[in-house]
Amino acid sequence: MRSGGGVSRRRRIPLNFLHGFLLISTIICGFGLLILTIRSISIDPNAGFKLPTITNTTDDNDYDSVSTFDSNTTDFKSDSCATVEEMGEVFAPNEFAIKESLRVRRMIQQHFLLNGAPRVRDLSPEQFCRHGFVLGKSAEAGFGNEMYKILSAAALSIMLNRSLIIGQTRGKYPFGEYISYTNLSFTLKEVKHLWRQNDCMGKYGRPLIMRTDDFEKPGESNVLCSNWRKWNQPVIWFQGTTDAVGIQLFLKNIHSQMRSAASELFGQAGALLSRPNVFGELMRVIVSPSEDVEQAVNWVLSGGVDPDIALHMRMLTNRSVRALQAALSCLKKALLTFQQQAARPRVVLVSDSPSLIKDITPSVQEFAEVVHFDYKLFNGNISSLTSNNAHQLDFRVKDWGPAPRWVAFVDFFLASRVKHGVVSGAHRRVGTTYAQLIAALAAANQLGEGTSPMNFTFLSSFQKNLLSDGLANQVGWGHVWNRFAGPLSCHGQSNQCAHTPLLPPAWWDGAWQSPISRDIRRMEAFGVQLSSLGEINESSLRSYCENRKSFVRTAPIVRQTL
Ligand SMILES: *[C@@H]1O[C@H](CO)[C@@H](O)[C@H](O)[C@H]1NC(C)=O
Ligand SMILES: *[C@@H]1O[C@H](CO)[C@@H](O)[C@H](O)[C@H]1NC(C)=O
Ligand SMILES: *[C@@H]1O[C@H](CO)[C@@H](O)[C@H](O)[C@H]1NC(C)=O
Ligand SMILES: *[C@@H]1O[C@H](CO)[C@@H](O)[C@H](O)[C@H]1NC(C)=O
Ligand SMILES: *[C@@H]1O[C@H](CO)[C@@H](O)[C@H](O)[C@H]1NC(C)=O
Ligand SMILES: *[C@@H]1O[C@H](CO)[C@@H](O)[C@H](O)[C@H]1NC(C)=O
Ligand SMILES: *[C@@H]1O[C@H](CO)[C@@H](O)[C@H](O)[C@H]1NC(C)=O
Ligand SMILES: *[C@@H]1O[C@H](CO)[C@@H](O)[C@H](O)[C@H]1NC(C)=O
Repeated sequence: MRSGGGVSRRRRIPLNFLHGFLLISTIICGFGLLILTIRSISIDPNAGFKLPTITNTTDDNDYDSVSTFDSNTTDFKSDSCATVEEMGEVFAPNEFAIKESLRVRRMIQQHFLLNGAPRVRDLSPEQFCRHGFVLGKSAEAGFGNEMYKILSAAALSIMLNRSLIIGQTRGKYPFGEYISYTNLSFTLKEVKHLWRQNDCMGKYGRPLIMRTDDFEKPGESNVLCSNWRKWNQPVIWFQGTTDAVGIQLFLKNIHSQMRSAASELFGQAGALLSRPNVFGELMRVIVSPSEDVEQAVNWVLSGGVDPDIALHMRMLTNRSVRALQAALSCLKKALLTFQQQAARPRVVLVSDSPSLIKDITPSVQEFAEVVHFDYKLFNGNISSLTSNNAHQLDFRVKDWGPAPRWVAFVDFFLASRVKHGVVSGAHRRVGTTYAQLIAALAAANQLGEGTSPMNFTFLSSFQKNLLSDGLANQVGWGHVWNRFAGPLSCHGQSNQCAHTPLLPPAWWDGAWQSPISRDIRRMEAFGVQLSSLGEINESSLRSYCENRKSFVRTAPIVRQTL
């Protein structure tokens, strides 16, 4: 086992040490000690590698199966790179991540008690007119990307202590036929109405103005340079955050107030072990399936118990046999990690490519019951919805598959019912936003006080041909492994079945994280100088921010159509 010495990786060393330590100790009783270790060590770049003394306890059985994943599948023993499974060890289910998720759950509850529509609606005019909002707005493009826009807005509303507005288009919520949204959020229409009713303009001189910041224009975005808590416009819209990354860039904002608001919600950028399931916890509160979708989900389950594991395969119509075989073996591994109560586990299959389902079903049936939504056999209310926007847009078929649009929502909420885990495989892009959100919501659904950490796991399945250049092909920011795709990722890996973060990281501070050159350039546009190992030059970011023209884009809301 590598100890992390040798190669100079400033902030990485202590975490490599942690990584080694995690492996060595399948007995993870010294967890409290561990956390302390991470915190104290990470300050000292020259920390040595003395193992902390830990005492064995008897109740360590829950954690034993961690070692299942440290077995023989890795070809590489190298100091300068890691396999996906090695990178993922830190994301194995553990007590810290659970505690963090529960902490974030309470934080979200608290937020909505304070800033939820029921309370804010009843504020006195003076208080109401001083109150702030964050707008979450999405189109009806790819579900994963669009959902991340809403969830990012919700996260921002927490960071800024404002209320959440979910934008509508011509009186309709995004994906409104398939998704119901929480009544703790506002519509823009209602805010406009209350603004007028309370006469915020006349009595308090507060016009209803929205400040917009476009993440997709890095040269103009204030995500790193401005203290958003000081913005006094009643409504803020942080536009274009189509994945888990955008909102987490606040973790490196030059203003400490923004940094701490972000890390309170997301954790420190480098603390990979204890990432809270922020998006899953948010989704659990904000969205639920519409009645029609719920009806279809229940039809598939036909009164049976919830399924155990979901396998999501994004194939883009490719019939890759290797992808299929890798996924099958990953699925079997996943089934091993939880104590099998049912004799025959139930596995949900979800894919954009119908042929995949056909190809894989017989093999899965050898060890599990297959649960799959065959929309052609379903004749519920939602089936008729297709008549509206009847045909799948042709140019989307390659991307989303040939099934009608609503099927993806049934699949999503069906898969999010699983009790024990999600496996994500693909022809090319593993851990897409859609798969991430399934795993995040399912994990949040299963989480309760006293939940066993080993009860839920998210795994990525890579066939070896995807990894000939390491993770370098996982280029999009929406891909869960993108932040690991740089030079620290080993070339020529064998098949991998790796623990995967429920909250995809946005920076490169953790063990084995490194950027691809495309992202070094992309971050430059935000004013960030990123080293090849992912360290950022804070003083240069600061001077970039100080020297640049500040962009303030505002518009009155009153004149906008809803
Ligand atoms: C802890 O347990 C392991 C395996 O059960 C054993 O090899 C080791 O000696 C124990 N260490 C201590 C300090 O008791
Ligand atoms: C690991 O591989 C070796 C030989 O390659 C084999 O003897 C051993 O049983 C394997 N261990 C596991 C846990 O699969
Ligand atoms: C959040 O806003 C509420 C009023 O809506 C205020 O009472 C509270 O102190 C604020 N909290 C923070 C941390 O700013
Ligand atoms: C808001 O939704 C909750 C949960 O779905 C429900 O219990 C409550 O009655 C709703 N409140 C209003 C005012 O509709
Ligand atoms: C499927 O993917 C493999 C590997 O990327 C490629 O060689 C093959 O041409 C693809 N087949 C189709 C039908 O796209
Ligand atoms: C289907 O739609 C009809 C008409 O709107 C309604 O009466 C019926 O209750 C719906 N069925 C279900 C199962 O939701
Ligand atoms: C783990 O999951 C099983 C099956 O869903 C459940 O019966 C058990 O209570 C869970 N254990 C904990 C500690 O959450
Ligand atoms: C960080 O940036 C500053 C200002 O741009 C520069 O002077 C310094 O050399 C940089 N430090 C490193 C380690 O690159």
